[in-house]
Amino acid sequence: MNIIKVSNYEELSRRAAELIAAQVWNKPNCVLGLATGSTPIGTYKELVRMNKSGDLDFSKVTTVNLDEYVGLDGSNDQSYRYFMNDNLFNHVNIDKANTHVPNGKAADLAAEGARYDAFIESLGGTDIQLLGIGHDGHIGFNEPDDVFYKATHEVKLDEMTIKANARFFANEDEVPKTAITMGMWAIMQAKKVLLIANGMDKKEIVEKAFFGPVTPKVPASILQCHKDVTVIYTY
Ligand code: F6R
Repeated sequence: MNIIKVSNYEELSRRAAELIAAQVWNKPNCVLGLATGSTPIGTYKELVRMNKSGDLDFSKVTTVNLDEYVGLDGSNDQSYRYFMNDNLFNHVNIDKANTHVPNGKAADLAAEGARYDAFIESLGGTDIQLLGIGHDGHIGFNEPDDVFYKATHEVKLDEMTIKANARFFANEDEVPKTAITMGMWAIMQAKKVLLIANGMDKKEIVEKAFFGPVTPKVPASILQCHKDVTVIYTY
């Protein structure tokens, strides 16, 4: 495990973007696993800058996102599809047909999860999976539980996650209570994992996840079993 402490958010964003760009330079038709949330916004800005300056070509890249709220479609500005379009896809030369987010409007979410995992398997897994981390240790929306969930699945969001995400909505009541998320199988298929964490409020959970026991009570701790993980954090 490669744990890198950097001095500020700008450096975190630049270092993370450089690792993703290196993946695209090495393999122009690579598969990027992407995340939403506040932490990767700076990374996406940096990737857009590299694309605009002609240093980074997304034309052959495929992306798969971690998760989506149940009940929101891509035209809803709180959906994760909207977030990805707004923060990255609309500003780079990626073919939108090659960008994938689980369908939160699927009538049968179990079937949607199976379809998503089969699709990721058909791609041979992601070449690099970008992750943030929740205050409760969640990755994607894999919340603390008694077990690790393997498949892409529907999940009931924790109170802590709903409260944390309320900042993006008019009020807490509007935050969807369920989401569909990649499970641990798809995340652990990634050839490389890049987890980014920003702020003093993430210090404790980063320490628990990477220096504590591997337990589904701290979902990110499973990454200790992955062979190529880079954690970049600042606080
Ligand atoms: C989002 C996701 C979540 C976030 C986590 C941290 O796709 O999978 O696990 O990475 O909630 O969010 P921020 O970056 O907003 O602190």
